[in-house]
Amino acid sequence: MDASASDGAFVEFDRVQKSYDGETLVVKDLNLAIGKGEFLTMLGPSGSGKTTCLMMLAGFETATHGEIRLGGKEINNIPPHKRGIGMVFQNYALFPHMTVAENLAFPLEVRNMSKSEREQKVKRALDMVQMGDFGGRRPAQLSGGQQQRIALARALVFEAELVLMDEPLGALDKQLREHMQFEIKHIADNLGITVVYVTHDQTEALTMSDRVAVFNDGKIQQLAPPDELYESPENSFVAQFIGENNTLMGKVTKMNGDRAEVTLDDGEVIDTVPVNVNGVGDRTLVSIRPERVEFNRDRLPADAHTLKAEVLEFIYMGDIYRTRLRVAGKDDFIVKTRNAPDQRRLTPGEKLEIGWRPEDCRALDA
Ligand SMILES: Nc1ncnc2c1ncn2[C@@H]1O[C@H](COP(=O)(O)OP(=O)(O)OP(=O)(O)O)[C@@H](O)[C@H]1O
Ligand SMILES: [Mg+2]
Repeated sequence: MDASASDGAFVEFDRVQKSYDGETLVVKDLNLAIGKGEFLTMLGPSGSGKTTCLMMLAGFETATHGEIRLGGKEINNIPPHKRGIGMVFQNYALFPHMTVAENLAFPLEVRNMSKSEREQKVKRALDMVQMGDFGGRRPAQLSGGQQQRIALARALVFEAELVLMDEPLGALDKQLREHMQFEIKHIADNLGITVVYVTHDQTEALTMSDRVAVFNDGKIQQLAPPDELYESPENSFVAQFIGENNTLMGKVTKMNGDRAEVTLDDGEVIDTVPVNVNGVGDRTLVSIRPERVEFNRDRLPADAHTLKAEVLEFIYMGDIYRTRLRVAGKDDFIVKTRNAPDQRRLTPGEKLEIGWRPEDCRALDA
């Protein structure tokens, strides 16, 4: 789905811009349509405008220009508490003087809900995050992960159709973080809620999302499902930001339909898919995923170009082998191979030829 196909979108940013100082735009012409029930993640480096976008959607910041719509209605001038949006902040923001149950009941009290109804909803929300026995504790008496779950329950308790989460797992250790990623995803799926999630952790974004919007410099660089983002980055920023990529610099020397021949700076020639180059003579940054590099000649197409390589380092990582090579004058070319019974371990000093299927090698903007 792209912005032009936004009919029936649940959340829409329509040509939205934001400036805090009246001069610099920290969000530049944002167009984004999010479907009902979708899990959309905004991913990008620090300062790229992710929180600003979330704050505008929640109503804590105003857009300098453009329209934000929820369920087809413009919400630019509706105050936050009337937007019916649940929100989880990075620092949990639980009230320390209230018990867990009181923290959860608070947004319901604000909405003038009766006591019995409140209690019933609080219980349900706590059960949902498997914290049913913790209603009487204060936040300080909980672990980081438990506090995180309470913050999540509080965003879910008034059954908002839209929940915004800004780096909600930032403070957790790896194991708990991964556990919570699945938990949040499952809760969102089960309740059918729409989630706009912010993170700068790309693994998290790929794991949880239906689609990921990669931000840089106040703009969406690419908006795509995780597999498409990883396999088909549209520009060199996305290629280098998402996952690991080997990059080589060169110049386009031939264009032939869906193939571009690139002559690398050291004179060697490779075949690529032209993604973000216009024609012969263009400088290009070529990218190849470490797991797509092949050193077994039999597994390459007969006419594939190959490059000379020398093994510099072999690292055993358990499930995979990570080998560092010198290729085209660069010392940081990585090959990843699966630790399988028939897999060969390369040894430092070894000289070999490497290659790849041309469709795995993308010629991008330099
Ligand atoms: N209240 C504010 N007043 C002025 N400038 C701000 C304000 N909030 C954010 N900015 C600026 O706007 C830009 C975008 O900030 P934002 O918080 O949206 O980035 P982010 O993508 O969420 O980054 P991070 O990953 O570090 O949280 C930054 O350059 C930041 O300095
Ligand atoms: Mg932020």
